[in-house]
Amino acid sequence: MAFTFFFRDSQTLDMLATFLVQYSSGRMHIKVWNPGCASGQEPYTFAMMLSEKMGHFAFRNLIFHNTDIDISNLFQEIIEKGIYKYEELQRIPIDLFEKYFKHVTGDLYQIDEKLRKKMIYYKHDLTTLKPIDSNYSLVLCKNVLLHLQYEQRVEVIQMFYNSLSDGGLLAMEQTQKMPEEVSHLFHPIASNAQIYLKL
Ligand SMILES: C[S@@+](CC[C@H](N)C(=O)[O-])C[C@H]1O[C@@H](n2cnc3c(N)ncnc32)[C@H](O)[C@@H]1O
Repeated sequence: MAFTFFFRDSQTLDMLATFLVQYSSGRMHIKVWNPGCASGQEPYTFAMMLSEKMGHFAFRNLIFHNTDIDISNLFQEIIEKGIYKYEELQRIPIDLFEKYFKHVTGDLYQIDEKLRKKMIYYKHDLTTLKPIDSNYSLVLCKNVLLHLQYEQRVEVIQMFYNSLSDGGLLAMEQTQKMPEEVSHLFHPIASNAQIYLKL
């Protein structure tokens, strides 16, 4: 199973949620692409943050396209059901845990339907360089590009650029610097995180 956990790099996600709320103002469609979503801990963390920060109207217009190469073939079912073991939920702030999770049975908890309804899952390999859709408000791709060769990384970031709306956002993990070949396509907007605006 892929390595991931709820509230991983929560500082960056929280900052990103604030940027996305600003970006979303007055827009009818807010589409987030989360490539390398693994079993859903990252998109659900981010959806909780957005639910807290966004107004009701903007949140209604939000949709997540979660994709992963998924060699286990398990991610779609896990994300759709949104059921996780209690031990996996320990990092979630208690107020959000109580608000967004309900007990199912034994040590299993299910995330609120309001967030589950936002999640669409597609099995997808980034190295095909074929985006599943376009006009994304945000591409949230963390701890995935390190699995690719440098040249592939450049091509994948170019694909992200093409799939973003004008002024859309790209976020990568802290250790992933923007390659020089594509740096003219984006403007960094955070001094302490890899968050970029499409130029
Ligand atoms: C370390 S996990 C990161 C999960 C989550 N983004 C996070 O930061 O916690 C990396 C994920 O990338 C996926 N992955 C690796 N290569 C991929 C590719 N070529 N296309 C799509 N997903 C890929 C893996 O299956 C895995 O689920």
